[in-house]
Amino acid sequence: MTSQPTTRPGHDPHVVVLGSLNTDLVMRTERFPEPGETITARSFQTFIGGKGLNQAIAAARQGARVSMIGRVGDDSFGDTLRAVAQREGIRTERLLTTPGVTSGVANIIVDDKAENVILLSAGANGRVTPEDVYAASDLIASADVLLAQLEIPLETVVAGAALARRHGVKMLLVPAPAKPLPNELLANVDVLLPNRVEISAVLSAPSHDLETDARRVLGIGARTVVVTLGSRGALVLDGPPAQAKALSVPAFPVKAVDTTGAGDAFAGGLAVALAAGEPLPQAVRRAAACGALACTVMGAEPSLPRREAVDALLAANA
Ligand code: RIB
Repeated sequence: MTSQPTTRPGHDPHVVVLGSLNTDLVMRTERFPEPGETITARSFQTFIGGKGLNQAIAAARQGARVSMIGRVGDDSFGDTLRAVAQREGIRTERLLTTPGVTSGVANIIVDDKAENVILLSAGANGRVTPEDVYAASDLIASADVLLAQLEIPLETVVAGAALARRHGVKMLLVPAPAKPLPNELLANVDVLLPNRVEISAVLSAPSHDLETDARRVLGIGARTVVVTLGSRGALVLDGPPAQAKALSVPAFPVKAVDTTGAGDAFAGGLAVALAAGEPLPQAVRRAAACGALACTVMGAEPSLPRREAVDALLAANA
C-alpha cells in the first residue's frame, strides 16, 4: 500500500518551487571529449528538465500539492514545459511567459560511468525577478516549504528566502549551480542541500573539509545542512554549530545509468517529507531513496520516482 505524504491527518503538504525550467538535450557517449576534440555520440534524446521543474515534479510524484514560480520563453519549448508541469498536477498560475526570449536549455553529456557535464543557456530563467516573487507572496505564505535553486538570478532567490522567513515558511535551498552566497541569504535558509562541491563554493573562505564547512554554514545562520554525497549517502548537521552532531545517512545501492536529476529527486523528496512533518533523519532517508531511484533511469524527468516505488525501496531496506 502506498504511504500517505503526511504525518498530520487532514494536512495536505504544500510545496512551492521557485526556480528554472529547461529542455535537456542529452548525448550519451563513452567518455567526455577533450578540449579541441570531436567525438561521435552514441545517442541523442530530448528530456524535460531544469532543476526547478525537476524538483517540482519530484515533489508532486511524492504526493504533495505543488506550485511553481518561474518563467519560460514564448517558444515551443516553453509551451511543452508548461504543459508537462500541468500534466504532473503542478499549479502554474505563477509560471510566467517572457515574450521575445528563448526558454532555458541544457546541453548534457552523459558518459559510461553515468556521470554528466551540463552547459546551460538560462534564457527566460534569467528573467525571474524579485517582483515575480513579491507578486506570489500569498502563495508562498500558504506553503509549508519554499524550495529554490540557483538557475535563476540570485537576487530573486534572496527575495524568496526573506519572504519565506517573514511568513514562517520553511526554506530549502539547493545551491546549484555552485556559487558564493551572501550571508543574508544563508541566514534565511532553513535547510541547505549542497553536494560536496557546492558546500565549499557557498562560503567566501571555505576549509574544503565537509564537516567544517557545514558547521560554518550553520554559524552564518542556516538551521540544517544536508550534504548529498552520491553513492556515499548524505551528511546531516542540524542545530547550532557547536552542538550539531554529524549524522551519516547511507545511500541505497542501485545500478546507476544516469545521475542527472538525482539531486533534484532528493530535494523534492526531502521537501515533501519535511512539509509533511516527518522527523529530519526519516525525511533524509526518504530523500535518499528518491535520489537512488532517479539514478536508475536515463534522463531527468523520466527518472523522478513515484511514491509507490520509494515506499517499496524503503520497505526492502528496512
Ligand atoms: O539537475 C539536473 C538539471 O540540471 C537538468 O535537468 C538540467 O536542465 C540542469 O538544469
